[in-house]
Amino acid sequence: MKILAINGSPRKNGHTVKLLEAALEAARRRDVQTALIHLIDYDIRHCKGCYACARGSCPQGDDMARLLSDIQTCQSEGVLYGAPVFDFNLPGLLIDFWNRNTGMSGYFQAREEGNLDEWLARNRIWKVGAGIVQAGRSGGQKTALKHVNFKLLIEAERVLPGMAAHTHHWDQALRQATSLGRKLARALEVKQGSYPLWQMPFIYKRLTCFEFPRP
Ligand SMILES: Cc1cc2nc3c(=O)[nH]c(=O)nc-3n(C[C@H](O)[C@H](O)[C@H](O)COP(=O)(O)O)c2cc1C
Repeated sequence: MKILAINGSPRKNGHTVKLLEAALEAARRRDVQTALIHLIDYDIRHCKGCYACARGSCPQGDDMARLLSDIQTCQSEGVLYGAPVFDFNLPGLLIDFWNRNTGMSGYFQAREEGNLDEWLARNRIWKVGAGIVQAGRSGGQKTALKHVNFKLLIEAERVLPGMAAHTHHWDQALRQATSLGRKLARALEVKQGSYPLWQMPFIYKRLTCFEFPRP
């Protein structure tokens, strides 16, 4: 079993990575393998909105194909997105990655061909996913975490509530990250659909504030 952490911060040694590493360390203690990818290591250009991906492939010759191949090579069942809050939201680096991935994973093509249901089923690529978002100034971490969870609702069979932290409460954030890493590892061990009953009201409360994506 493996968890892949995807660092959406442009800094490779910042708060986001420290929290991701705390979570991964906790998962490793439960015999789960881990990997960490820094999006900043890749040249990810903005989506041009040309919809060329709907008719064939994305014409941008940047590192997106290499990045997607590296993610696939990890063969992880779990994903942990990490990001700082930028302007009360997620940083452009992570959004650019998602925007491009949406097209390159065939979403627009499937929509044109009326195969969205099949695409959604095929693109639940992770067994379980969660997000770590942390803010360092005036906040916005809850809003940003909602965006991560929206994405995970599409990508993962099961979404854990994740954490929205502030660097002013750093010790608490580290503890939360450790606990999240343990929960992710445990969720990988649990069979799909058999999520502990005591957690259901908590998850429901978190998820009902989202609109569920519909084709
Ligand atoms: C461009 C930019 C925008 C930011 N916007 C916010 C914000 O809206 N709210 C906030 O609390 N912190 C904001 N911050 C602070 C970062 O969230 C904070 O420094 C965070 O800990 C950085 O994470 P990192 O060390 O992983 O890069 C911003 C920082 C930058 C560089």
